[in-house]
Amino acid sequence: MILGKRILLIVTGGIAAYKSLDLVRRLREGGASVRAILTKGGAEFITPLSLAAISGEKVYGDLFSLTEESEMGHIRLSRQADLVVVAPATADFIAKMAMGLADDLASTALLATDKDVLIAPAMNEKMWQHPATRRNMAALEGRGVLSVGPGAGDLACGEEGWGRMAEVSEIIEAIGAYFRTGAPLAGRRALVTSGPTIEAIDPVRFISNRSSGKQGHAIAQALARLGAETTLIAGPVSVPDPAGVDVVHIETAAELLSACEEALPVEVAVCAAAVSDWRVKNPATRKIKKSAAGKKGDKPPVIALEENPDILARLSAPGNMRPALVIGFAAETEDCVENAKAKLAAKGCDWIVANDVSAATGILGGDDNIVHLIIGSDVESWPKMSKQAVAEQLATRIRDRLTGPP
Ligand code: C5P
Repeated sequence: MILGKRILLIVTGGIAAYKSLDLVRRLREGGASVRAILTKGGAEFITPLSLAAISGEKVYGDLFSLTEESEMGHIRLSRQADLVVVAPATADFIAKMAMGLADDLASTALLATDKDVLIAPAMNEKMWQHPATRRNMAALEGRGVLSVGPGAGDLACGEEGWGRMAEVSEIIEAIGAYFRTGAPLAGRRALVTSGPTIEAIDPVRFISNRSSGKQGHAIAQALARLGAETTLIAGPVSVPDPAGVDVVHIETAAELLSACEEALPVEVAVCAAAVSDWRVKNPATRKIKKSAAGKKGDKPPVIALEENPDILARLSAPGNMRPALVIGFAAETEDCVENAKAKLAAKGCDWIVANDVSAATGILGGDDNIVHLIIGSDVESWPKMSKQAVAEQLATRIRDRLTGPP
């Protein structure tokens, strides 16, 4: 359940901070990646070095560090996560959260984040029961902040009672439960097609295209991170299968179509694959030879083509299996937006993501993309950004459409 998820872990200054090292280790064992912010108080209990070694990532601490801000600003840090976890969360830090203070990196990241937050409080029982803490916790709960623990038992201060940070296994369980049920697209099913198809000419030759699969694969991953149960149907590509996604590998358009039909019903289908429009009518069962003697002047073979099924059009056709939202891609080399608008109408999909893939843009196979999102007659032109960022932004739009008002 936590496979492929990105956790931003904030470690504040309580004795339970030592347990956060084990939390990081267990999260990584489950396939999550963890980026940590260690507050000044937290650094009194554990070192940035041990947290960095266990998380395998740089540890952030100082809001005013110019180098950190240029590498990864606090806004990006707070948003490039699927869930923010504060463990341990001290009484002082809970009070800061409740007040909305932003005087260090951890509290600023919490104000800036657009992600859900789970806290694991840890303090002395009297502090936990104090009316100020009660009021602060009520304020956080009212804002949708999730919490796990604290539990009862021996406290580090020598007293006994409520206030112990939840056990690491309980925190892991709460994070798993969040992704099972609390993530914005939990319980929703998504289908993404990606990469090229290949159509055989004979057993060794084929017709294909230059699609890298980078954009489609990133979209599948972004949807899975929002909690969607995602099936990615992928043509032959060299990018790795994304974590936390069911991947079906196909080669031909016909295989892509039947894999899509098998994945239905879904609520959203994103057709990012570059499907060969045509396939060879009668692929040879043996390698086509020039001639037995390989004579010069032999006529080249004529390869007859026939049309492939249009998967996007089929998924968009009215019917009870039609996904609520069908999104096509239009890779164009000229008149990008006009051609894409025509495609939206012709195929019957709901949205089209158009991009100019003429060779000079370097978009085919590259890491960046410049896209226009076309919804009806509206055209939104997005600035140049990484394919990863396009995927995240598109996934956010999909989330808003599926979970927001109709
Ligand atoms: O017509 P064109 O190939 O440019 O349309 C691109 C869009 O249609 C993409 O979303 C692509 O995945 C989809 N498509 C398809 N089946 C085809 C051809 C294109 O699903 N046979």
